[in-house]
Amino acid sequence: MNILVLNGVNLNMTGRRERGVYGVQTLREINERIAAYAAERGVEVKFFQNNNEGELCTAIQSAQGKYDGIILNAGAFTHYSYAIRDAIASVSVPVVEVHMSNVHAREEFRRNSVLTPVCSGEILGFGANSYILALESFLL
Ligand code: DQA
Repeated sequence: MNILVLNGVNLNMTGRRERGVYGVQTLREINERIAAYAAERGVEVKFFQNNNEGELCTAIQSAQGKYDGIILNAGAFTHYSYAIRDAIASVSVPVVEVHMSNVHAREEFRRNSVLTPVCSGEILGFGANSYILALESFLL
């Protein structure tokens, strides 16, 4: 099994920004943890982070035929990017939406995701473990 872990805008700042919300682990450390977890289960994982909407759309389009699933934390794009939503809808690769924070317990604008309707599922609120749980969902 081949999984792409895709992180969007500002996720490169994880561990340095709003530590009370997103924790102290850097994205690199989180990715290392995911990679170790995946290796134990015989899953291949690739990682990509980008702050640009179009780059994320291209990554999603390119995943067709290459990956069995995508774990996507689109960051703030989650709440308004119809472009990313359309990119997800354009491929048959299942996408699991992930958020580290419990977006429903935060500002009003975070409660809406334009991506959820075209994702196969959503996991949120478990910090970096949200990624691990998303990975686990592909193994069930
Ligand atoms: C986030 C939640 C988003 O609302 C926010 O814009 C982020 C991170 C999360 O992982 O909790 O950048 O996706």
